[in-house]
Amino acid sequence: MTINSLNTTIRNQILNQQIHHFITSELPKTGFEPNGKDKQLNFRLVEGLERLIPLYQNIYHTHPKADQTFEKLIQTLVDFAQKRAPELQQRDNSKKPQWFLSNELAGMSLYVDRFCGNLKNLSAKLDYFEDLGINFLHLMPLFESPSGESDGGYAVSNFRKIDPKFGSLEDLIALRKAMQKKEMYLMLDIVLNHTSHRHEWAEKAKAGDPEFQDYFYMYDNRWIPNEYDAAMPEIFPESSPGNFTYVPECDKWVMSVFHNYQWDLNFMNPAVFVAMVENVLFYANLGVDLLRIDAPAFIWKQTGTSSQNLPQAHELLRLIKQCVAIASPGMALLGEAIVAPKEIMKYFGTGDYSAKECDFAYNATQMALQWDMLATGDTRVMLAAQHDLMQKPFGTSWITYTRCHDDIGLGYEDSKIAQVGKDPFLHRQFLKDYYTGSYPGSPAKGALFSSNPKTGDARISGSLASLCGLEKGLENCSQEEIDRSIQKILMMQAHSFFLGGVPMIFYGDEIGYTNDYSYLDDPGKSYDNRWMHRPVIDWVKNNRSKELGTIEQKIYDGTKKLLTIRKSLPVLSDLKNLTWLSPHNIHVAGFLRAFGDKKVYGVFNFGAETAFLTWYAFKGHGKTPEKLKDHWTGSEMQVGMDNEFLIISPYGFHLLEVIND
Ligand code: GLC
Repeated sequence: MTINSLNTTIRNQILNQQIHHFITSELPKTGFEPNGKDKQLNFRLVEGLERLIPLYQNIYHTHPKADQTFEKLIQTLVDFAQKRAPELQQRDNSKKPQWFLSNELAGMSLYVDRFCGNLKNLSAKLDYFEDLGINFLHLMPLFESPSGESDGGYAVSNFRKIDPKFGSLEDLIALRKAMQKKEMYLMLDIVLNHTSHRHEWAEKAKAGDPEFQDYFYMYDNRWIPNEYDAAMPEIFPESSPGNFTYVPECDKWVMSVFHNYQWDLNFMNPAVFVAMVENVLFYANLGVDLLRIDAPAFIWKQTGTSSQNLPQAHELLRLIKQCVAIASPGMALLGEAIVAPKEIMKYFGTGDYSAKECDFAYNATQMALQWDMLATGDTRVMLAAQHDLMQKPFGTSWITYTRCHDDIGLGYEDSKIAQVGKDPFLHRQFLKDYYTGSYPGSPAKGALFSSNPKTGDARISGSLASLCGLEKGLENCSQEEIDRSIQKILMMQAHSFFLGGVPMIFYGDEIGYTNDYSYLDDPGKSYDNRWMHRPVIDWVKNNRSKELGTIEQKIYDGTKKLLTIRKSLPVLSDLKNLTWLSPHNIHVAGFLRAFGDKKVYGVFNFGAETAFLTWYAFKGHGKTPEKLKDHWTGSEMQVGMDNEFLIISPYGFHLLEVIND
């Protein structure tokens, strides 16, 4: 029966009946036992379909193959749920709801090959993570990707085959099992928005197969591409300008928003949606705890718009959330939406779907604002942005970070900069000059990434250590500069670890790796300066973290200490329990994390001079504290009078727990 032309309510009712029939009559033919072994699954299915059906219908009801593809989707969910290994089903059941809000989680993001060669070697490195206090690993893309046209693995040519340079699926499963024995969690990426042009689907499209040409946005001429281009920004304007690539094999134009070898998948085609849900669930069944959905802002395109953050992109994510809740309920979702703050918030879900879209997003705004504060010594732009960030719904969380494999985008709104009386253009210009080291006296050493001469936009590449001044300090053989850079590194990490959310350290930053310029000699990387901050780990250097007094030791032990403190304080769980202080000192960022009678204040001096913070800053949040324990220095302090001060050294910080007598 075709139900496309009916109104939504009637259509959903009919579909519900069809589904009921499908579950009770068709599925049992394939061995599904709603009252037996599949009882739990049946329960999730019936419950989940209530949400899933209208979401699916909203997006696909006009597509001629909507109904038959929907049945395929349900069958897919059932198949993957049934194939889920018993130990993963057990893990699903034993995970507390919102297990990921805990203060006991701390992550590291790493490239397996650059960290230790391959997956087998990584199994042997678990003690390293344990020692540092890391129990959550984000392994950068592992699936097959053509070398030289890989975008660090984000151009996937086979979603099911581990790139042989890392090892095999068996190695990954063995690693995951070893990690679980140590109560560690695994995060992998699903690159949802695009495939490599060498993926089987793309190869078939090139060969002229119309079914697979429909998997991409492919056009015979430039008419529609021109229409899209008119409103779409460019992501890599230097290395890959425009949003379409000519495909000589089939004489067509294909949408390629990122690099020209990354072809955008056409989610208007429900077959693409189901095929990608299969990949999502394949990863779920490998034992992924948190799935990082790469570039979700881009998954729906529409001419006349920027083709980012469109409502249909959110509907697709909600749909994926429902599919996961049915087939692999223990896996959480992270939306990697590095977009304006107001837009980021929507990835947690809005309206009826609040907290029912992505469980996590990157706190990219706060990350960028930390770098803003570090350069300017001024916290006001950061504070102006908090109103939006505080809207995050309870039950969802942030990935908090100072650096990752990508550039630092300065994507917060101009209005926040203007609000504190600064000129947005000049302010951004200053930040770019500061972090590329061209601003007089700047200790930073980074580079502009993806400068767009048409718009003046640019982002920043560079490692945490180099942007904090360690590279220049070493070049200048200046102990003072080196010490100051270490202080900045630890303050930046402390600020992001204590703010709320799961801290995600970028590998190498725990040791203070400076920029690596060897990427310039590799033609597959030289066009992309993000490789300067993706180090190849030298284990001799890392082992210096055990020698007292080395730079490596100071940064490693400082980072470890911060993670230990975080784990010791349950009040730091992400319970939507963050309040910003008004410290009456623009150089000092201060917040309170409170739950029940537990309170922890974090105060951070982003200024280059000693800061004086009136004790008044600690008042006005319930009972005035009398005594504070600084977990960073180990000292205890008495809260003084309003006209007395807590003195904070340049780039110093305190993690102050209220002591209840
Ligand atoms: C994400 C990744 C980035 C990649 C892009 C395209 O933003 O983090 O590294 O270049 O997606 O896949």
